[in-house]
Amino acid sequence: MTRMLRVVFLSSIAFGYRVMSMDLSRTEDLGSTPIFVCSVLEPPEQRSANNLKDVHGFSEPAMINKPVMLISAQPDLDAVPPSDAIHENEWYNQDFDGYRVTEQLLYAKRPLRIICVGAGAAGLQIAYKAERALENIDLQIYEKNNDVGGTWLENRYPGCTCDIPSHSYQFTWARNPNWSHFYSASEEIWQYFKDIAVKYNLEKYVQFKTTVEEAVWDEELGKYHVKILNPAGERITDSCDILISGSGVLNSWKYPDIPGLDLFKGKLMHSAKWDADYDLTDKTVAVIGGGSSAVQIVPNIQPKVKKLTAFLRSPVWITTGFGARYAGPGGTNFEYSEEQLKEFRENPEAHVKYCRDIEGELNKRFTLMHSKGKDQKNSRDLIASIMKDQLGGDPALTARMTPNFALGCRRMTPGSGYLQSLTKENVQPVHRSVVRLTETGVVDEDGTEHEVDVVICATGFDTSFTPHFKLIGRNGADIKEQFGDFPIGYLGVTVRNFPNFFLLIGPNGPASHSSILPILEWYTRYAFQMIEKFQRENIKSFEPKEKAIKDLYNHTHELMKRLVWSSPCRSWFKNGKIHGPVTAIYPGSRLHFFELLKEVRWEDYDLTYKTNNTFQFLGNGYTQTEVSEDGDPVWYFDDPFTKI
Ligand SMILES: Cc1cc2nc3c(=O)[nH]c(=O)nc-3n(C[C@H](O)[C@H](O)[C@H](O)COP(=O)(O)OP(=O)(O)OC[C@H]3O[C@@H](n4cnc5c(N)ncnc54)[C@H](O)[C@@H]3O)c2cc1C
Ligand SMILES: NC(=O)c1ccc[n+]([C@@H]2O[C@H](COP(=O)([O-])OP(=O)(O)OC[C@H]3O[C@@H](n4cnc5c(N)ncnc54)[C@H](OP(=O)(O)O)[C@@H]3O)[C@@H](O)[C@H]2O)c1
Repeated sequence: MTRMLRVVFLSSIAFGYRVMSMDLSRTEDLGSTPIFVCSVLEPPEQRSANNLKDVHGFSEPAMINKPVMLISAQPDLDAVPPSDAIHENEWYNQDFDGYRVTEQLLYAKRPLRIICVGAGAAGLQIAYKAERALENIDLQIYEKNNDVGGTWLENRYPGCTCDIPSHSYQFTWARNPNWSHFYSASEEIWQYFKDIAVKYNLEKYVQFKTTVEEAVWDEELGKYHVKILNPAGERITDSCDILISGSGVLNSWKYPDIPGLDLFKGKLMHSAKWDADYDLTDKTVAVIGGGSSAVQIVPNIQPKVKKLTAFLRSPVWITTGFGARYAGPGGTNFEYSEEQLKEFRENPEAHVKYCRDIEGELNKRFTLMHSKGKDQKNSRDLIASIMKDQLGGDPALTARMTPNFALGCRRMTPGSGYLQSLTKENVQPVHRSVVRLTETGVVDEDGTEHEVDVVICATGFDTSFTPHFKLIGRNGADIKEQFGDFPIGYLGVTVRNFPNFFLLIGPNGPASHSSILPILEWYTRYAFQMIEKFQRENIKSFEPKEKAIKDLYNHTHELMKRLVWSSPCRSWFKNGKIHGPVTAIYPGSRLHFFELLKEVRWEDYDLTYKTNNTFQFLGNGYTQTEVSEDGDPVWYFDDPFTKI
């Protein structure tokens, strides 16, 4: 019994037929459609109900030869008529706004070039994830230094240590069981980044000793032209579709803006540009600053210098360490025992649990960040009394050193041994600003000159959020001018007037929300979602909308009124101001940030397309699944929505 059948899908069990074999030599030409003779199963109604087992191939079914239509899954370019062909249906002899279908498959990812500036934590994270999560991209990272690691390559002052627990200050994709201490020192953190870069071969994306000097948006091409200074000292122009700045918020260190720096004849150093070869033994030293860097430098150099004058213009809350529940007694650092390290190495589950516990603890701090909250009051009272004890009960020093602003307004600074060191005989705290330097010393605002051999400026960084290169966007916008001293962006990652640009991390991102590394991971995830859509949907540019930015701005600063960061203290979170907008901090908890950035709110972006039809990416009507050999033609059966 041979019958002609129309078989559209090879496994058309739904219609009751199943192709068991086919004989390509036996084709019959029926009009324009080639018909192959295949062996198919009988339709179900012709089989007995108890023969259903055969349908699923458990036993050899009865074969019959029938001619059927067999369809090639590959698009047939010969079937594409020329765009000016005369159609048999007259209605179709019209032009649809000049639109032309392209032969692309739905959501095909077009090739992109991405340039990332910087190979610190952000750049390494981009490289690792891009290789695994993106397709059809060409990634180039430019790094001014001769190695990876950014902050941890550059900051090598005595005592430079991360104050976030090591098992949180790491990437979730590269958990390290070998951290030697609860809080790790700069060298060990740098080694961690270097090891990752080597293990995953990430340095192949990086061109070292290469400074990005300028990036200029080209509206017509939808690209940035990027000027670089290469190791040979040549200026070269590269270009990219997507520009990522991972150039570091705390990377451009700065000397204080005080006269006479060039007059000083002694040794001048900045905390972020430490001269490790210089011996401080028996020297008379001035340390300018009382922020996190100075708090680590002072107790570490105090025992070896002859005299140390600490210029502490503003007080700062000196707290116990972050993640104190898991730290040593009183929130102090400790060294892991061999036994603990062995357990982390040999029992990865226990290690991951430990990492999760610490991270979870750090994620529960938002109540503390409310100026009028109970947690704030209790913690403030506790820290004030600990500080008093550490200052040896000295009432004058305690009064000077205890801030009158909220805990957390400036970055809380765990300072192991810091306050105690201020009480040592060879240390003189000066609670006044430095106004100028002379050939031989430092002059404070009272006009007193302090003669010193060495001036150490622990005076912080350019925290304007401006990338460390000239950036010109749409209609000639210059990001340095646009940001001025009040940078505004969108969710700390994209910026109005700067299409196709990601800033990791930008204004009002979670800069004081515990370890930055998982935050960088999440920003990367967000950026990659955007890049994928950009690639798949023929998008030429994306830029956050003015209205979204304005609404976010209003929300940010209205909520900020109740949060510690708006308290009047001088902080880099307010770009060095006492009274002024909080420019560095995300208005919400760490978990709030993670949840919000899970999905891209596309309604907050202005998009332009590569052609004037936004649906050009629909292409020729085929999907990638159906033309690929191993594409699953019923993938939608496995969609999570079908399982609920
Ligand atoms: C002393 C110190 C201690 C810190 N401690 C902590 C902590 O305990 N916890 C925490 O979460 N964060 C801490 N931070 C913040 C720290 O900066 C981040 O955690 C993180 O290292 C930032 O990584 P990044 O890649 O964004 O920037 P960076 O590490 O600053 O890297 C930026 C890279 O960009 C390169 N670059 C800059 N401009 C250019 C250019 N024009 N062309 C080419 N390359 C360029 C730089 O050379 C650098 O390698 C600390 C910062 C400092 C300074
Ligand atoms: N362990 C860590 O985790 C760690 C360590 C170091 C740095 N960091 C990160 O890096 C950030 C920056 O820290 P930082 O300490 O380098 O810088 P910072 O917090 O900005 O502190 C700079 C210090 O310099 C003082 N200063 C500036 N100009 C002065 C002048 N003319 N006279 C007297 N004092 C002057 C400032 O005084 P005012 O306060 O009065 O302005 C301030 O005390 C931190 O907030 C933190 O995010 C972290």
